[in-house]
Amino acid sequence: MTDEAPPLAGVVGWPIAQSRSPALHTHWLKRYGISGYYIPLGIRPQDFESGIRALPKLGFKGVNLTIPYKETILSMADGVTDRASLIGAANTVTFRADGSIQADNTDGIGFLQSVRAAAPDWQAADGPALVIGAGGAARAIVSALLTAGAPEVRITNRTRQKAEMLTEHFGGRMTHIDWSKTATAMDGAHTIVNTTALGMIGKPPLTISVDAAPTTALAVDIVYNPLDTDFLIRARAHGLTTVDGLGMLLHQAVPGFESWFNHRPDVDDALRQAVLSA
Ligand code: ATR
Repeated sequence: MTDEAPPLAGVVGWPIAQSRSPALHTHWLKRYGISGYYIPLGIRPQDFESGIRALPKLGFKGVNLTIPYKETILSMADGVTDRASLIGAANTVTFRADGSIQADNTDGIGFLQSVRAAAPDWQAADGPALVIGAGGAARAIVSALLTAGAPEVRITNRTRQKAEMLTEHFGGRMTHIDWSKTATAMDGAHTIVNTTALGMIGKPPLTISVDAAPTTALAVDIVYNPLDTDFLIRARAHGLTTVDGLGMLLHQAVPGFESWFNHRPDVDDALRQAVLSA
């Protein structure tokens, strides 16, 4: 009976109303004619473990995780991929047939795929990266840049201690830059990434000057609302190639969809439009 039921997946968070993932996965399900469902699941913190453990029995193949569960899941997962343990968080869970929980983090690969799609000639190995911010997204991006061969990753954050912790965690190729020196640290950078919330609707813009950046550098923002942030507008005016934050959101979703619904989905303009209009 279970095998005949439509496959289910979803996103677990608390609160959950803000997630764009249901629009994203539902677009793919319709597009590929898959008779499955992707559901937003608001689970309270006290019910998180029992809630997750119940999902395989209800027909769920897996779930995405969002705030506040990306770190919590690691301690209850039965298997954790190397990249998720290195990042210290997971955003994608697959349930095995026996109900065991496999946790992965696809944010870093989503970042790399998004950059490669927008700038096919870009190579992490071609020069130093500057990562602005030291939160969860920064951990995934730093990890991806190092894995992809960045010779140096400079990190800067308003709260100094968090950047220092990341520098220590990721080791040798990391350089901590004081927040007040961020503009200077653009000098010689090959890749510049804003991982902070600055520039998002309702937040102040990221006002740090990009004038010291080489015009050959790539500027990436993880903010996607709005798509064109003040940071990207100024970077483009200075001659840099820019990549907006929507691509990372879309590309990080690919491995989960493939593992739950057995079809590798495409990231294209129709998907961008579907998610933007959700
Ligand atoms: P995410 O998982 O999206 O990375 P997060 O872990 O809350 O979210 O991290 C948010 C990042 O945005 C942090 O680097 C944060 O800086 P602090 O560590 O100093 O809090 C940064 N950020 C948020 N608001 C900021 C502001 N007004 N000025 C500078 N940095 C800000």
